[in-house]
Amino acid sequence: MLMARPIQALIDLSALEHNLSVVCRHAPRSRVMAVIKADAYGHGVLRVAEALGRADGFALLEMDAAVRLREAGYRQTILLLEGFFAMEELASIEQYHLSTVVHHPEQLAMLSAYRQRGRLDVFLKLNTGMNRLGFTLEQFPGALETLKSNPAVGQITLMSHFARADESDRHESVAAQMQRFNAAAGGRNLPCSLANSAAILRYPETHADWVRPGIMLYGASPFSDRTAAELDLYPAMTVSSKIIAVQELKSGDGVGYGHVFRADRSMRVGIVAGGYADGYPRHAAAGTAVLVNGKRTRVIGRVSMDMLHVDLSEISDAGVGSQVTLWGRGLPVEEVAQSAGTVGYELLCALAPRMRIVT
Ligand SMILES: Cc1ncc(COP(=O)(O)O)c(C=O)c1O
Repeated sequence: MLMARPIQALIDLSALEHNLSVVCRHAPRSRVMAVIKADAYGHGVLRVAEALGRADGFALLEMDAAVRLREAGYRQTILLLEGFFAMEELASIEQYHLSTVVHHPEQLAMLSAYRQRGRLDVFLKLNTGMNRLGFTLEQFPGALETLKSNPAVGQITLMSHFARADESDRHESVAAQMQRFNAAAGGRNLPCSLANSAAILRYPETHADWVRPGIMLYGASPFSDRTAAELDLYPAMTVSSKIIAVQELKSGDGVGYGHVFRADRSMRVGIVAGGYADGYPRHAAAGTAVLVNGKRTRVIGRVSMDMLHVDLSEISDAGVGSQVTLWGRGLPVEEVAQSAGTVGYELLCALAPRMRIVT
């Protein structure tokens, strides 16, 4: 049998299901559009779709993944979050009965020029302050009329996206976006969708007809001031590996490239099979938390392509073959991300293609 390098990402399907139930608990009157872009935040789009089969819809932006979902037999709404980029895609959108965001006048023009057989469901995106995608409030009535008079367009849903729902002290920003959205959408009698994970958890008044959870489904907190555990979310991905060598350092010895860590006493250092070519962040600061045999210790020295170093001073039972958790169960990805100057989203999505995924 081939021995595999010990690093792996374990995807916990029951955690995904649990986290979906947390979404439903918070937004019991809304339909749930599970956001599974970027290969389901690194967890694997088909694997996640199966675990989240109860969701009312899936949102992503990669056409190939959307088609794979349909071909796998999912009958729910499948929404393309950036819409389409060329006329030619409209035929596939129709063929696979995908729903598309329309956020830009050029997309409206392409839709108007499309000679369809059936009807396409459209999510018309309003820019209420995020200033990323969407029609301005001034453009919105015209865009809506254009869609309504287009025979190629079926169901129209109105949507927007929050810029600051994750920040604890930015209620006024969310309120201002809501107010602009309501001013535009009010009286139109169309389904609406605004809420990402942060808004689902913090702002019930934003839930509307469809919520769009991403990060919370994967068991990470969207907030810097509340942990996933406090929100009753379970981590869906645990990246683990093993110690493959142990070094006994004397005071003054350096470790790894640049010798950026130097021992100030005799100490044991474990070498872990896991580096930036696996998706572990090279910018993880000295002292980033890691678990060895379930006990917390710290990353030391510079993370290299395939390995990193951990302090074993306080873990006397650790040696070659000891189990290491880089993030996941027992060690929130948000915490590791923060030490690397980033967010959990980025670490989850940046899992390298060579990572072995197990369920
Ligand atoms: C339009 C849109 N809706 C929903 C989400 C889900 O956001 P989150 O992962 O913060 O829940 C995203 C993700 O960035 C998004 O772009």
